[in-house]
Amino acid sequence: MNEITEKLENEQFLEKDEFKWLLENNTPELRADLSKRAQRVAGETFGKGVYVRGLIEFSNYCKNDCYYCGIRCGNEQAHRYRLSEQEILDCCAIGYDLGFRTFVLQGGEDPDFSDQMMVELIGKIRAGYNDCAITLSLGERPRAVYEAFFAAGANRYLLRHETATAEHYQKLHPRELLLENRTECLRNLKEIGFQVGTGFMVGSPHQTVENLVADLVFIKELNPQMIGIGPFIPHQHTPYKDAEAGTLEETLLLISILRLMLPKALIPATTALGTIDPNGRELGILAGANVVMPNLSPVSVRKDYSLYDNKICTGDEAAECRVCLSKRMEGIGYEILTHRGDYPQK
Ligand code: SAM
Ligand code: FES
Repeated sequence: MNEITEKLENEQFLEKDEFKWLLENNTPELRADLSKRAQRVAGETFGKGVYVRGLIEFSNYCKNDCYYCGIRCGNEQAHRYRLSEQEILDCCAIGYDLGFRTFVLQGGEDPDFSDQMMVELIGKIRAGYNDCAITLSLGERPRAVYEAFFAAGANRYLLRHETATAEHYQKLHPRELLLENRTECLRNLKEIGFQVGTGFMVGSPHQTVENLVADLVFIKELNPQMIGIGPFIPHQHTPYKDAEAGTLEETLLLISILRLMLPKALIPATTALGTIDPNGRELGILAGANVVMPNLSPVSVRKDYSLYDNKICTGDEAAECRVCLSKRMEGIGYEILTHRGDYPQK
C-alpha cells in the first residue's frame, strides 16, 4: 500500500492499474495514509488556509435535460426563478462586506439570461469590485461568448467534464449533449486565459472504476487550476431518482488522490459532500481540499436551486453561512482566508 501512495506523492501520477488498485482497496487505513500525505502537500502551498468563494446561484432555468440534475428542463415540478441584475449586484455587495473576494455566478443554461446581459453584468461587477475575482459556471457556450465574458472582466470558469468516458457520458445526458463539446469548451476556456475548473460526480449512475481512472487521467492531462468533485445525490424528480448516492469514503479518497496529482490545485469541499455527511466539508479539507463555497444567494430562492435532494444551508443567510464555515474550519485547525485566492504562480 505504502509503495503506491508514496509513488503517487513523489511522481504525482500512477499507472492505470495502480489507480484502480487504490479505488478497489479503499480502506480506512488507505484513506488515512493518503489524507496525511494530501494534507502535507496542500500545507506546503496553502498552509492551514482555506479559500472562501461566495456562490450566487442566479437562475435555475435550464434548457438542458441532464438525467441526474434537479433543475433539468424536464422537471416540470421545479419552481423556477431568475435573479434580476440588481439582485445579483446586491448579493455581491453583501458578500463584499462579509469579506468575500471571489464571486461565483452559477446557473442553469438559461437562454433568457442572454450573453449580452451576462457581459453587462460582468462589466458592472468588475467596475464595482476591482479587487475581486469573478468566476462563472454557466455551462457550454461558443468560444466567442467565452471571449466576450473574459474581455468583460471574468477570470475563472467552472465546467465539470462530468465523466471522461463517452459511453458513460451518454448514460447521464440526452443525445444532443456530447462529451466532445464539453471538452472542447474546456480547451477553449484555457486558451482564452481563464483559470479553469473541471470535475465530476463521485458514484454517478453507471460509473465504473475504469470510468474514474479515465477521469483521473483526463484531469492530469487538462491540468486545470480548480477541481470540483462531490458525491452524486439523487433528486426525486429525475430519471435517476432511485439510483444510489455516491459515498463519503470514495469522495474523500478521490480528493486525496487529486491533491497528490495536482499539488497546487484549488479543490473545494463541496456542499454535496456536506449534504451526505454532517462533517463532510471538514473531512474534505482534511482529505486535501482547500476551498469552501458558502452560498450568497437570497434565502428566498435557495431551496429552488435544488440539484439534488436534502441540500444543506438552504435556510441560512449569507452571514450565517460565513460564520458557520469559519467556525467549522477553526474546529479542525484551519482558517478561512479572505483574499482572492488565485491559483498559485509558483
Ligand atoms: N449549468 C452549469 C453547468 O452545466 O456546468 C452549472 C450548473 S450545474 C447544475 C453544476 C454541477 O452540479 C454539475 O456540473 C453537476 O456535476 C452537479 N450536479 C448536478 N446534479 C447533481 C446531483 N444530482 N448530485 C450531485 N451533483 C449534481
Ligand atoms: Fe442544466 Fe444539465 S440540466 S446543464
